[in-house]
Amino acid sequence: MKASELLRRATTRLKASPAIDHWQRDREALEAEDLLAHALGVDEVDRALEVPERVRRRFEAMITRRARGEPVQLIKGFAEFRGLRLIAKPGVFVPRDSTEFLAEQAIRRLRGRRNPVAVDLATGGGTVALAIANETKRVRVFGTDVAADAVRVARRNAERLRLRATFVRGDLFSGLPARLRHRVDVITLHPPYVARGELSELPDEIRKFEPVHTLTDQSEDGLGLVERAAAESRDWLRAGGWLLIEVSPDRARSVARVLREHGFREVRSTKGGDLKITRVVVGRR
Ligand SMILES: C[S@@+](CC[C@H](N)C(=O)[O-])C[C@H]1O[C@@H](n2cnc3c(N)ncnc32)[C@H](O)[C@@H]1O
Repeated sequence: MKASELLRRATTRLKASPAIDHWQRDREALEAEDLLAHALGVDEVDRALEVPERVRRRFEAMITRRARGEPVQLIKGFAEFRGLRLIAKPGVFVPRDSTEFLAEQAIRRLRGRRNPVAVDLATGGGTVALAIANETKRVRVFGTDVAADAVRVARRNAERLRLRATFVRGDLFSGLPARLRHRVDVITLHPPYVARGELSELPDEIRKFEPVHTLTDQSEDGLGLVERAAAESRDWLRAGGWLLIEVSPDRARSVARVLREHGFREVRSTKGGDLKITRVVVGRR
């Protein structure tokens, strides 16, 4: 069968899947093409190609998994994030394109600082921390996560990519060396911000494939960890340092309010990157 026909059929299957959130135009077509390229072992699919039977079967098995909701990154075993290939495995939050804007905001604020220090709270597999380490010079980068699995994956990512970043396990700041107090230039946080009662509203592709502690802090309003991070950041940031928090658009106002209540200045909700589906709320100490 020709690649073009395989892609057409796969796209139709994905469009009909109730497990997938169909928020982006062409999302299904792009994902089908991504998976076929992966099955073929190429960067780009030649649509006129006659796809070998063995590859067709492999591709169709991948489409079946995707139609059940499994994220493309878990099917492939890796995620591309700002040009880095990061491990994607069950049990650790999958790095998403939408988080690239958080990394971009951090990198912009770190450039030009003297001996800068960056801390990525709730780092997962090291997503934002590793992008910072890759794109900035002389920045000391730390990542923390409460989950041992996440810290293991973050360390493996750093090793494979030969990037310098220190990953520690701990509840928010608790694993960080005390000498970093009042020395941090930029803190990033992509928290679990789904309210406890809203978990059941998430699409299967998230609810069934991401561990619950990566989605919600079990608070009523989803702001439990944000509140704590805003309160505790004040002891870690240097004067003029930034706290950057990625959330969904409907949470941005409440997060901005929390930051103001904790004395942050220049608080804004920013929107950017190609996708514009999340917000990064920024505030300065
Ligand atoms: C939405 S994921 C973000 C992961 C990563 N920053 C990313 O953007 O790909 C939230 C992360 O918060 C971590 N987490 C949850 N509660 C935490 C806590 N109290 N302290 C530190 N990390 C926590 C989870 O283990 C998970 O890795």
